[in-house]
Amino acid sequence: MIKREIIEKILENCDIVELINSYLPLKKVGNYYRALCPFHHDTKPSFYVNPSQQLFHCFGCKESGNVIHFIMKYEKIGFLEAVKSLAEREGIEISLADEKEEKKNKEIYEVIKLASKFYQEQLFIYPQALNYLIKERKLSLTTIKEFQLGYAPVGNLLIKTLYKRGFSEELLIKSGLAYKKEKDIHEWFFNRIIFPIFNSRGKVIGFGGRVLDEKIEPKYLNSPETAIFKKGENLYGLYQTRNFLAENKPILVEGYFDLLSLFDKGIKNLVAPLGTGFTIDQARLLKKYSEEIIILFDGDNAGREATKRAAEIALKVGINPLIAFLPDNYDPDKYVKEKGVKELKKIICFPYDFIDFYLKISHPKTISEKRNILKKLGEIINFTCDSTLKELYLNKISEIFHIKKEQVLNIFKEKSFSVFNVEIKKLEDQIINILLVYPKYSSLIQEYPLEIFPEEIKELIKIIEDFKDKEKINTGLILEEIKNEEFKKKCASLSFSSEVLISNIKEKDFKRLLDKYFYEYLYNKLTSGESNENILRKIVEIKKNLIKGGK
Ligand code: UTP
Ligand code: MN
Repeated sequence: MIKREIIEKILENCDIVELINSYLPLKKVGNYYRALCPFHHDTKPSFYVNPSQQLFHCFGCKESGNVIHFIMKYEKIGFLEAVKSLAEREGIEISLADEKEEKKNKEIYEVIKLASKFYQEQLFIYPQALNYLIKERKLSLTTIKEFQLGYAPVGNLLIKTLYKRGFSEELLIKSGLAYKKEKDIHEWFFNRIIFPIFNSRGKVIGFGGRVLDEKIEPKYLNSPETAIFKKGENLYGLYQTRNFLAENKPILVEGYFDLLSLFDKGIKNLVAPLGTGFTIDQARLLKKYSEEIIILFDGDNAGREATKRAAEIALKVGINPLIAFLPDNYDPDKYVKEKGVKELKKIICFPYDFIDFYLKISHPKTISEKRNILKKLGEIINFTCDSTLKELYLNKISEIFHIKKEQVLNIFKEKSFSVFNVEIKKLEDQIINILLVYPKYSSLIQEYPLEIFPEEIKELIKIIEDFKDKEKINTGLILEEIKNEEFKKKCASLSFSSEVLISNIKEKDFKRLLDKYFYEYLYNKLTSGESNENILRKIVEIKKNLIKGGK
């Protein structure tokens, strides 16, 4: 992670006209600069640069953004590289936030690294542990070494070793290697096979451990959360498998051994959540590698329920989840051992999409069952931030259920939160538009109940409020903070609306717009049946104001 101040500094220093002009010739037209778009086959110049907002926008392919986005897109590089290259160009020193984080927690990383080395050595001292991995779990030595598997013996050996090297009790506890119980210090892991968990820079941040003695509970145990280990933010195996995720879609499996066993047999495009369900953060991490994943969970009820949840999470971040099914009572590890790689590949190569998966597990027959599943699917698909994905699934549902697309959309809308008409959507866009160009007007919104605004506007207000230096805010800086890609594009495009840019919008104009919006909002409530005394009174009051203010 790069620190926010660095990004702000780059955006302040680097002039977009100058930068883009060094790549393609820009021609001044009015307040803008224009060129043939470098991102699509453009015949008449539809690529515009706005110097006052420091943004570019193509009216042809809708590509838009600030200097960083331009470099990413033009040079086909990632965010980090783009920032680095711009920083160099502008002579700005950057120190990476995660390098800083590693420095700050240097001691924890150091002691965890030593512990990991200790566990690895122990594996070769205790034959029962090594035998378990090789004979029972059928792993090769190559895989054992690649994942740096280890063994935690009994007898507080690790604590003693680390004490000898001068590490404090406090640090061992802070690192999650030990815990205190009534004055005594105990090891977190003992008599367990150890799976080191790596961050994406290849540093060990924590461990998973599996019992050797099946009678002990719990079967699997992870390190506690520490300053450097956050379960929901990391994926097991990613560091070792990251280079295999580009050529083949990542396969998400449930367990450590599922991953290791398949990797060992040559299927290497794998990741696993860490004993938790698949989280939004893990999905976002995975999206950097692929926009499609295959979920291959255990063939039991728990596995199917977990599959549903993981698929929904994937959809939310705009990943298309494909689902591979195992027969009852098999997990990937058991299946590959009993049936072989070829059979498993058959299952992986023909996964179901989200709709087919849902229909397969719920096989609706009656009309009412069908209607319910349709609503449920609509609700889930509506979550996704990716409009293409939404559209594709919409088409598919319409085909399968033999329902017109418009009708499917209606069902989706029934379930979705906003049931507003076009008028209010237009007002929303205008509000967003003005907030982007005149962020200081965000304070006027405080006079209205926040809940009347859609999530997007709320996010925008929060971003503006969070800026420390209110004087410096501009559209480019705001765009940089917007997480949702779709919304970011929409904002970039809206901020080019000439109506707002050309006209000098005053506070009272914005207030009037907000009043209008509030009025429409309440009116909608009224017509959707939610009438009450207060709403009526408020409507009359606003209407009066609006009339007073003139047209
Ligand atoms: P499973 O119980 O399916 O593991 O849990 P498995 O891999 O099939 O077990 P064995 O080793 O073959 O008998 C799948 C994953 O869920 C987490 C672990 O990450 C495990 O790999 N889990 C499971 C826990 O965190 N705690 C538990 O007690 C059990
Ligand atoms: Mn399992």
